[in-house]
Amino acid sequence: MFGGAILAGNNQKEIDKRRTFAIISHPDAGKTTLTEKLLLYGGAIALAGSVKGKKTAKHAVSDWMEIEKQRGISVTSSVMQFQYDGYCINILDTPGHQDFSEDTYRTLMAADSAVMVIDASKGVEAQTRKLFKVCMLRHIPVFTFINKMDREAKDSFDLLADIETELGIETCPINWPIGSGKEFKGVYDRIRKEIISFTPGSGQREVEATSIDLADAGLDALIGADKRGKLVEEIELLDGASHEFDMELVRAGQLSPVFFGSALTNFGVEPFLKEFLRMTTSPLPRETDSGTIDPFSPYFTAFVFKIQANMNKAHRDRVAFMRICSGKFEKGMDVYHVQENKRMRLSQPQQLMAQDRSIVDEAYAGDIISVFDPGVFSIGDTICEAGMEPIAFQGIPTFAPEHFARLRQVDTLKRKQFIKGTTQIAQEGAIQIFQEPGKGMEEVIVGVVGVLQFDVLEHRLNNEYNIDIRLEGLPYQYIRWIENEEIDLSSLQLTSDTKIIQDLKGNHLLLFTNEWNITWAVDHNKELRLSESGR
Ligand code: G4P
Repeated sequence: MFGGAILAGNNQKEIDKRRTFAIISHPDAGKTTLTEKLLLYGGAIALAGSVKGKKTAKHAVSDWMEIEKQRGISVTSSVMQFQYDGYCINILDTPGHQDFSEDTYRTLMAADSAVMVIDASKGVEAQTRKLFKVCMLRHIPVFTFINKMDREAKDSFDLLADIETELGIETCPINWPIGSGKEFKGVYDRIRKEIISFTPGSGQREVEATSIDLADAGLDALIGADKRGKLVEEIELLDGASHEFDMELVRAGQLSPVFFGSALTNFGVEPFLKEFLRMTTSPLPRETDSGTIDPFSPYFTAFVFKIQANMNKAHRDRVAFMRICSGKFEKGMDVYHVQENKRMRLSQPQQLMAQDRSIVDEAYAGDIISVFDPGVFSIGDTICEAGMEPIAFQGIPTFAPEHFARLRQVDTLKRKQFIKGTTQIAQEGAIQIFQEPGKGMEEVIVGVVGVLQFDVLEHRLNNEYNIDIRLEGLPYQYIRWIENEEIDLSSLQLTSDTKIIQDLKGNHLLLFTNEWNITWAVDHNKELRLSESGR
């Protein structure tokens, strides 16, 4: 349907040079350190340590909320844009703390590829696994950066096997480490056939690369005779047994190019960035209800993937983040909000350029802009250029919460504010609320993806709505929507610790304390059909 016209000349070039990706990792694997080094290369920041104020005084770009500052962690996801080597790079930041939220998942909906940072001494960890699952939902390319090689690492083959078996993706090492920890000598670049030497303590960005045949006796002097034998053997093994590099499989998210390095010591970061930019894609086409839309289409289209309220308490503002999927955005242009069926102008369009938020005059497919939201946008909404045939992008899935609590208001006289506050926060997608059949809205069950959201909820209800609440943790861990609503609920056979609840749309769900109970329910109720995501 949109195959015909494409953007002309310069606009096309602008889109072509965009690379929009997210960095995913388990906390402490080195995501912040790597992001910071990438920003340094792009000249977007001048100081190491300025991305996240974990221990540094300066706080992260994304530290908007007070609670983030108190804890020194990044609760919300944000985006940073910078230029490097002819590319325009958009890094989508995902909260690194283990108390991450649904926002983290949704941010991945806006990315065209992902960089997965893995701690070389640990391998694949819980949060990597969860985030990777979301990447696979979208079949986006995933690149692996095995970090902290300057520390004692697991065997490199075991690390690859771990990724392949744990995550179910094939791997193809682009470079190969020579030792690790105190014995780390650098990496062998399999494409260029060169050794990049590691000099401890240098922290240098400049790489010392030596083209060398592995059979060359000069290799002894470079990495030591003992290391040489092992390297030659391992590369032979890799050449014979590892998956061959195949760009099509990479683009389809079936093969992950693997790079070894050390973000903290600046080792292997720039070579990684260069290869990654070459291998990853420019903005990808997106599915809509009327077919695929090409990023080079002359029409501006975008979807909302994140809403953030009250970033500035004094102004009670609400901001919607949009991923541009096609065409060019120009400040002041007339757009059409598909779900609201309304023509409008996007107010205060902004972009994050590393540490500054600035008004955007124009932005292109692949970019993320944030706009002032007077309360009209919902997550997943489509915005398109006024005048074009309206389309709607495929919705963003609701991710099943994993933690639950009963939420009560302390002062029952503030019933209205309580309902307003909880429903508004739920509309933003920060929490999901459920009711127990027969009970009113004064007492609800809250489900969240990351437990920190409970603190955020309490903080926001206190601060923004002036309500005191009581949260009581519940032992449930799994939620399933009942697909066949016509089923007789009273006749269901369930374990005593399984609970029937309803979402705000009236759909019925089951809460389980463990997986065994889910199997029990399915086995004892032949007609029952359960699904992991909401409608
Ligand atoms: P995260 O965002 O994934 O949570 O990880 P982050 O970059 O904050 O890194 C976690 C810790 O690991 C930090 O140390 C960081 O300095 C260290 N680190 C990151 N990359 C490397 C690496 O390549 N080699 C080594 N040896 N360490 C690395 P910290 O002590 O927790 O914090 P800080 O005192 O450095 O701020």
